[in-house]
Amino acid sequence: MDKKLRDDIYIHAIEWVREAGEVIRDKMYGPLDIETKSNANDLVTKLDKETEQFFVAKVKSKFSGHFIHGEEGYGDSPTSLDGTVWIIDPIDGTMNFVHQKRNFAISVGIYHDGVGEIGLIYDVMANVLYHAKKGEGAYKDDVQLPSLPEIGNINEAIIGMNHFWLCENKLIEEQVMQKFVKDIRGTRTYGSAALEFAYTAEGIIDGYISMRLSPWDVAAGIVIVNEVGGITTDIDGKIVNMLDKSTILTCNSVLQKKILGMLKEGRK
Ligand code: IPD
Ligand code: CA
Ligand code: CA
Repeated sequence: MDKKLRDDIYIHAIEWVREAGEVIRDKMYGPLDIETKSNANDLVTKLDKETEQFFVAKVKSKFSGHFIHGEEGYGDSPTSLDGTVWIIDPIDGTMNFVHQKRNFAISVGIYHDGVGEIGLIYDVMANVLYHAKKGEGAYKDDVQLPSLPEIGNINEAIIGMNHFWLCENKLIEEQVMQKFVKDIRGTRTYGSAALEFAYTAEGIIDGYISMRLSPWDVAAGIVIVNEVGGITTDIDGKIVNMLDKSTILTCNSVLQKKILGMLKEGRK
């Protein structure tokens, strides 16, 4: 992608993410009109929908040829990654948004012909923006993030994961997941995949694993983690498909090989 054009997209994307965050902060104590989607714990609010609509309107008015792949379905729901595609989660961590009023993020990954060019993860309540352009490093606000710590022993690693994967896991034997949790130093559950990617990039956790995520949960995070030398694949070590749900492991490459090896033993 042309560098000048990418810089222009980046500046606008950052401006819109901050503006959307401000609207969320303004309206979040008003009526949220909470609904459920795939199950009783899969929540969506008026602000998830309005935020996605805001991005669709902004992107289409400024970059009319770009496509939008957004969680709430107001975009184009593309079937290919040709051209420039904005992969947007308007609020990642809606359960946190509803119950805790913190620990949720706006996640925007911008891909060109399938390549992740820009990643933005905005922690709305902390007013902290994690951002990266491919090949230009990753930043937390205006501080560049260093390369990931070279932790190679899983017994020194703190891994983000949802405890749900210990109780109902259709892909990995539960005992193997339990052994994994016992063997690592600790787990953390933040309730926002995007923030868990950002924290991995920041090096405050050593990785994040999930058995089922959607493209908008990970699109921005993958770009940001790449920029600090991390790697993101599915649990079979394959590149993540940005048009479909997928398992996810993001961490440094040494831990990745070890964790994938452990999980392989428990593959159902
Ligand atoms: C969810 C969060 C959560 C993860 C779920 C996601 P949402 O996104 O990222 O941490 O465990 O799988 O669906 O629904 O709040 O945008
Ligand atoms: Ca999400
Ligand atoms: Ca969401």
